[in-house]
Amino acid sequence: MIGQRKSAPSPAAEGGAISPGVRSAAEGRGTLVLTASHVSKEFRISKGHLIAAVRDVSLGLYRGAVVALVGESGSGKSTVARLLAGQEVPTHGDILLDDTPVHIARARAYRSYKRHVQMVFQDPFASLNPVHTVRYQLQRPLSLNAHVRGRRTMQRELAALLEQVRLTPAESFLTKFPHELSGGQRQRVAIARALASRPRVLLADEPVSMLDVSIRVEILSLLDSLRSEFELAVLYITHDIASARYFGDETLVMYAGAIVERGPSEALTRQPAHPYTQLLIESAPDPDALRAGRARLASHARPRARTALTNAQGCPFAPRCPWAEPRCEQDRPPLIPIGPERAAACWRVDVTAPALAGATGGGTAGG
Ligand SMILES: Nc1ncnc2c1ncn2[C@@H]1O[C@H](COP(=O)(O)OP(=O)(O)OP(=O)(O)O)[C@@H](O)[C@H]1O
Ligand SMILES: [Mg+2]
Repeated sequence: MIGQRKSAPSPAAEGGAISPGVRSAAEGRGTLVLTASHVSKEFRISKGHLIAAVRDVSLGLYRGAVVALVGESGSGKSTVARLLAGQEVPTHGDILLDDTPVHIARARAYRSYKRHVQMVFQDPFASLNPVHTVRYQLQRPLSLNAHVRGRRTMQRELAALLEQVRLTPAESFLTKFPHELSGGQRQRVAIARALASRPRVLLADEPVSMLDVSIRVEILSLLDSLRSEFELAVLYITHDIASARYFGDETLVMYAGAIVERGPSEALTRQPAHPYTQLLIESAPDPDALRAGRARLASHARPRARTALTNAQGCPFAPRCPWAEPRCEQDRPPLIPIGPERAAACWRVDVTAPALAGATGGGTAGG
């Protein structure tokens, strides 16, 4: 069921701060809709072995704002999305919709929650049913979740949905099967299906990474105009920090299950504080640098599961960090405020971003 249960005070109740002392850069856009409060998720991978896929993640999604979640493969981004979508239950912590802890125990409760919180996935081909037409795929959520009744009303709603995702004339798309559409058109149908429930939150898990480069910006622009039109609270998951800068009001950088840096997208990408964010940005500007950066990441990479398991004590990035000192191996840094809307989980901010280190107030980040 969805309802109240005993839990820690929500971030909203704590004055809107998701991390203590740090405001979300998305907060200025609108009210808080969906919150993860100190959420962790462990998976059992074999007898006696747990993997910490998500560790103590707190974030807020605000009406009309985009929060971008960036990180390499296996860092826990999709697990965060599935927790927010109610598809996974947190091992610790709470998910809150409008400040009310969410507890989904039954299929009916899940369906009701899904009306508010919808997902768009990376692969539109896999997320659409290949044996059904566009009409069928959109009619179901319209009748089940938005309670649209009557043939003429349904026809009107179907046309409106397809117009919203710029698939016109609607009639020519309603009878098509997924394989008859281009990748971009399929993703537009998947977005229309998500909108059919009239959600307040859209969780977009790498929505453009499988699409042709030439249509990625079009789809991101579409998501941005839908965000604005319907005041959607959006979580945008990506590997690509450049698109996070373009699309996100706030950017959260994830590494080994934890948020290691957060801040306004523009400021964070212009002046990254965490060495991992710096590495991501160094990798991003052009395709050659991206390849070189990926190779550099790969050459330092340990097996994903072991990274999460073996760094329980210290900073998970320490084995790859040029600035690591003994403290980093032993003591996991929390998110340390480096400005009113910024924080980084690094003991060495005085070295990695000296201009920001002053904002920690008394050298908290000093090592
Ligand atoms: N159901 C599961 N059972 C066991 N381990 C899981 C499960 N789901 C995720 N994991 C593990 O949790 C970690 C985080 O996975 P997740 O899919 O969230 O990463 P991601 O950041 O989305 O990666 P990618 O960029 O490749 O999509 C990985 O080590 C993954 O293998
Ligand atoms: Mg993923």
